[in-house]
Parts: sequence; C-alpha cells; structure tokens
Amino acid sequence: MCHDGSAGQEPGPESGPAGPTRRAFSRLLMAGSGLAALAACAPETPPPPSSAAGIATTKAAPASSASPLVPPLASTPAAAATSAAAAPAPAPPAATAPAAPRHSLIDPASPWVVVNKHRPLAPSTFKPTDLVRPAVRLAAAGEASLLNGTTAAAAEKMFAAAAGAGVTLTLASGYRSYVTQAATYSGYVKSQGQAAADTASARPGYSEHQTGWAFDIGDGSGADSFTPRFAQQPAAVWAQANAHLFGFVVRYPWMLHGITGYYYEPWHLRYIGPEVATEMKNGGIGTLEEYFGLEAAPGLPVTGSGHHPGQS
Ligand code: DAL
Ligand code: ZN
Repeated sequence: MCHDGSAGQEPGPESGPAGPTRRAFSRLLMAGSGLAALAACAPETPPPPSSAAGIATTKAAPASSASPLVPPLASTPAAAATSAAAAPAPAPPAATAPAAPRHSLIDPASPWVVVNKHRPLAPSTFKPTDLVRPAVRLAAAGEASLLNGTTAAAAEKMFAAAAGAGVTLTLASGYRSYVTQAATYSGYVKSQGQAAADTASARPGYSEHQTGWAFDIGDGSGADSFTPRFAQQPAAVWAQANAHLFGFVVRYPWMLHGITGYYYEPWHLRYIGPEVATEMKNGGIGTLEEYFGLEAAPGLPVTGSGHHPGQS
C-alpha cells in the first residue's frame, strides 16, 4: 500500500476506474470474463527480453534537433539493445555526440533504480542522504513529508503547474524508512492477510517510497484517497496527463499488475526523469520493467527455503 496506515479500500482488478487507457481497455476486452487471471493482463506484445544489466543507457536528443524531445519507441534502451544485436554497428559520426546518460538500475540513489518484487533495495535499509521537505501542500507529516532532493524539486514544479491549472495536488505520503514500511506492510497483513497485502503494499526493503523517488498524491479533500476511484479525481486526471512533463510516471498502472506486482495505484508517482517519462507516455509503455527490458515481477521469487528476503 502507499500510505502509512489509514487503510482505504485498496485497488483491485475488478474495481478500476471508468476510464482506463486505450491499451488497457483493449486488454480488458480481450480478457473477457477472465479478469482474475494475471495472464489476461499481459501486454498485447510481450515485454522485451530480460536484461541482466545493472546500468542502462539512452540516447540524448541533440539540443538543436527539431525532432521532438521524445525519440521513437525503437530508441528505448531495450529496443536499442535488440536492434544493436540484429544489425552491424554503424560507423561513428564525425562529430562526437554528447555522452549518453548512464544511470544505474540497481543503485537506490540512481534516478533509474528499478525496485520491484524481484529487485529489492541494496542495502535493504537504504536511506537517501538528501531528504528534504518540498515546498508543496502537505497532507503528511514527519518522514512521510520528505522526498529526495531531485524528486522534491520536480514535485514543487509539478504542484505549482497543477495549481496554475486550477488543480490541487497534495503530498500524501513520501519517504518511508525500512522500519515504517515494515509496520505498514505488517498492518496490511493483519487486516487483509498476506496474499492481499502483497498486491497493495511492498515488503520492507522492496518499496520505492524508501528511495525518496516516489510519493503518493491526494487532492486536498481526501476524496477517494487510495482507492481506484481516485483515478477520476481532478488531481489524478491532471497527473495522468501531465506528470511526465516533470519527470514522473504513474508507477502501478491499471491492469498491469501482472508486470508490476501491484494493483492500480493512480496516486503513486515515481520520478524517472522527463526524458524517460515522456518517452514512456508517448510510446504507450506502462511500466519501468517494460521500458528497461526487465522481467515482470508479479510475485516474490520462491526461494528454496521458502523464506523471502524482506520477510520477517
Ligand atoms: N504501494 C507500494 C507498492 C508500496 O508499498 O511501495
Ligand atoms: Zn505509493
């Protein structure tokens, strides 16, 4: 779950909003009555092959280019890797292009870190060194009102832009320590049982909230907070349409729990940077797993001992 205790009705596969994306809607149609099956939620085209790489690269758009900020889908890291394997490498251009940005997919301090049920934080008790309280409307206190420095700056710009458009966003839950996440997860297990808890709340050491790169939004009224219906509130509608411009993605989209491992959370935004967020938005790529060519993580890997890391 994405908040620190007040358990609203958590999102589920049958209780989503009236307005899923077109891709999701076509999935819904294809799925027919088999919505409960995770297989029905698989993307129309399979995700790119898994990559063991911990470092990803992407191509920087030339500053003077007339082309849009966002390169075509084929230039995503995963697609680029596929094309590179299929065709001989072209001769390097005469003028050297700027160095491609490289960010770790593993380091929790990296803006591209991918955390999911297969990719725990390392170290599990990671704490960002640059936590700050953003100058935004808060609906959280204490550590939950903190974000890492980059995310805080981007959030300030986004909240101001939303306000300029007449939409109130509130910061409902930001940073969570390992200890807080343990208490949050445990509360869900107690109230809903472990299986349901695992569809809504990350286990300690497995939450994006612990990185400082993610936070949950509210709309100031508390309407439909932390329920799938929040997707219809102006705050969520605005964020869905505009968050990418500020570097954020809705990390757990509608009907992609077969990839992310969590049901729809229209309130949970993750900073990934404007280039990647815009590329995902324009390319119809719903998850970081698909974008970076990583395996789907619908559930915790089963270990020989039956004990999962992070499980206490
Ligand atoms: N609700 C998300 C998955 C978290 O607990 O981090
Ligand atoms: Zn969240």
